[in-house]
Amino acid sequence: MNATKTKKKKSKPQPWRILIASGVNLDLLGMREPHLYGSQTLADMEALLQSEFGEIAELNFFQTNAEAEYLAALSQGWDGAVINPGAWTHTSLALADRLAGLKLPFVEVHLSNTAAREAIRHHSYTAPLAAGVVQGFGINSYALGLSGLLCHLSEAQS
Ligand code: DQA
Repeated sequence: MNATKTKKKKSKPQPWRILIASGVNLDLLGMREPHLYGSQTLADMEALLQSEFGEIAELNFFQTNAEAEYLAALSQGWDGAVINPGAWTHTSLALADRLAGLKLPFVEVHLSNTAAREAIRHHSYTAPLAAGVVQGFGINSYALGLSGLLCHLSEAQS
């Protein structure tokens, strides 16, 4: 028997199953305060991510204005998630508790740079639990966040 210890890699069938979860008021993207959030829509974001990552990840897009639905969507056994909880970022201990309980690997994204906005938007309940946070790049924040999440998942696997 070979005494040399070999590092066993977990065999994870590809592609990753990823949730892209947009929360409250993000259905208004494109018409909502375009000076803050840009003029592109959620459909534009979905097309961007699908074209950049659709071959390497199974992307599941979800948006709701109901917090209970958002919590339920997170709980469906994803490999990872990109979340933009909208205003729940700054208000929802329940969302943070859910993410902690699920141990779901996730990246938090925001279209706007919340650090450069009103003080009430500087605190995020969820950011301390995230693998990383991307903000300030409009819908590209989602693409950058997904890229980071896939790196994070690959590293965790090896
Ligand atoms: C947001 C930032 C939040 O402060 C705000 O409540 C939103 C959108 C963003 O993507 O920039 O609804 O999450």
